[in-house]
This record gives sequence, C-alpha cells and structure tokens, in this order.
Amino acid sequence: MKILVTGGLGFIGSHTVVELQNEGFDVVIIDDLSNSSLEVLEGITSISGIKPYFEELDLKIKSDVKSFFSKHSDVVGVIHFAASKAVGESVKEPLMYYENNISTLVYVLQEMTKLNRQNFIFSSSCTVYGQADELPITENAQVKPAQSPYGNTKQIGEEIIQDTCKVNEKLNSIALRYFNPIGAHPSTEIGELPIGVPQNLVPFITQTAMGMRERLSVFGGDYATPDGTCVRDYIHVVDLAKAHVVALQRLLENKNTSNYEVFNLGTGKGSSVLEAIHSFEKVSKKKLKYKIVDRREGDITAAYAETSKANNVLGWKTELSLDDAMSSAWKWEQKIRNK
Ligand code: WQD
Repeated sequence: MKILVTGGLGFIGSHTVVELQNEGFDVVIIDDLSNSSLEVLEGITSISGIKPYFEELDLKIKSDVKSFFSKHSDVVGVIHFAASKAVGESVKEPLMYYENNISTLVYVLQEMTKLNRQNFIFSSSCTVYGQADELPITENAQVKPAQSPYGNTKQIGEEIIQDTCKVNEKLNSIALRYFNPIGAHPSTEIGELPIGVPQNLVPFITQTAMGMRERLSVFGGDYATPDGTCVRDYIHVVDLAKAHVVALQRLLENKNTSNYEVFNLGTGKGSSVLEAIHSFEKVSKKKLKYKIVDRREGDITAAYAETSKANNVLGWKTELSLDDAMSSAWKWEQKIRNK
C-alpha cells in the first residue's frame, strides 16, 4: 500500500519513513529540502535497503500539489509533517509560518478529498496546550491561546482538519500531539540536523559536548519545579515514529471511532533540564559545561503527557528511555562530526 509522507526527509518524518518501510508499506516522500538534505534519503535507504520514491516539491505551489496527486491517485494514506517548526523564528516571521504551515495543509487536504482512500495523520504538538492547568496533560485539556505563531498554526491546522472531516465523512484523520521528540536512529544513519545554532535542548547539549558550543545556557533555575528548571516529556524519536505507523494502521483497518481523533504522544514522565543534562553525562561519560541563566521568553514551566488514551485506545506506548534517547543523540552527533 502506497503512503505519502510530506516532510519525509525531516527529523521525525525520516524516522517514520523507516518504520513504515519496516511494516512493508510503499512510501513516497515529498520534501522541499528547506530544512533537510538528500543525504537523509541515503540514510533511510541504507537502513531499510529500500529507496523511497522522492519528489522535491514546494507544497505552497497548488498546481504542483494537484499534479503530484493526479500521478499518485493510489495513495491510501498521508502522513503530513511538512511545516516550519522553530518557535522563535515563528515570532519573527509570522506570515512565513502562516503561509507555509496553513496553505500547504489546505492544498494537501483539497487533493486528498479526491482519493478513494482518505486516511490522514497530522503532525501536531503539545504546544497547543500552552501551560496546562493540570499535569499530566490529557487530550481533553483545554487548548489555550497559542504562545507563538508556530503553536497557532498547529491549533488552526487541527481546526481545519476537524471542519473538513465534518463535511467529508470519507476523510479519516488522527492528530498526533507530540511532546518533546529527541534522539536518533540507533544505526546513526539518520537523526536531528539542526541548521545554525540549535534552539532545542538536546542538539545544543550534544554540540556543547562536541566542543562546537562554549557551554549550554540553562534557561531559568527558579521555576516551581523540584530543581527549579523546566520539566518536559522527552520522547525518543523512534518511539514517536512507530506511533505514526500504529495510527495509520488504525485508520486503514477502520478501527477509528470517529473520523477525527487526537492522541498525546509522550512517555508520561516529566524530566527537568538538569535531569536531562545528568542523563547525557551518564551515557556519554562526559561532563557538560552549563550555566543557569535567565528564563527564555515564552517557555512554560512543565508539560508531560497522560498516556492512557494512546496506550489503551491507540495501542501504543513508548519502549525507550531518556538515557536511550540521549545515548542515540550523542552517537549521532559523533557520527556527523566524524569523531
Ligand atoms: C526544552 C527545555 C528550555 C535550549 C519546543 C516546541 C515544541 C516542539 C519542541 C516542535 C525548555 C530548555 C532549551 C537551551 C535550555 N517543537 N532549554 N537551553 O521549548 O519545550 O518545545 O520544541 O514541535 O512544539 O515548543 O523544547 O528543546 O526548545 O526546550 O535550557 O539551549 O530546555 O527552556 O525548558 P520546547 P526545547
């Protein structure tokens, strides 16, 4: 069965392509290479031994999206990752984010509604919750006003899908709200490739340990948490990728109970920044240079998932630990720096 993965050369997209291939799916990838490279396609191929069909395509060009879908009318499922995802950048470039993250979703959905099989998995984010009132966070937690244009594009994206599903019962969709994806494939053939100075914690940790950064700035030590640093739910990207395959199979096997479902994807365990640092130091046997500095604008204090819906309804749970993720991230950093 042919599955389209948009943004399939990205961090989570590439790991999901590998897991889809492991399950025997025929994968076609669209990516505009704005935040990736063709080396990722080689990495996927070296892991699975199967080179996915790839088309470099800008999903903002409606006519190109139309012609792609007319060539691939046998697609039975779409996993939509293609979007810009840097929170800080979205604050500086809101229109670029609204154009790139919303218009592309609309064009993909418009073409999908012409397919025989319309199964859609949407890459969403726990960022839609903002600072939740209760922890752990369930799927029924209130969706708060977005703290960034990036987060707003995920909220708007979910609403667009819901509205479309209301009038098109052939469209079956699942929104997956990721907590904090980290780590890399154990083969070290694919992983996170941040461009420029990493915004996210784990690539900054591994680049600091590699000597590429002077030291890690820990943004805030005075939060209302056990050690004063922010708490997040760090999920191994391979666990996250597997969840996408399970969600797709749920739709393909018509097991969904409505044509729009939402699942939180996390470990259910919160870890502070200092705990993440200690995990890295343990698995890498390296002392990390860091300094606690002022808080980062827009950061929430704590977020971690309530996982019973994903575990019991979706039938998926994480199998890898924070240490596993840190170890894979470090091995990947060493590989790409050829150390
Ligand atoms: C994690 C923690 C920082 C860098 C964002 C998006 C979310 C998702 C993941 C796309 C925070 C601290 C970080 C550093 C630090 N992205 N930190 N020093 O902000 O939880 O989530 O990325 O879907 O939607 O909102 O992730 O990795 O940036 O930060 O102390 O140099 O690490 O303050 O507490 P975040 P992050």
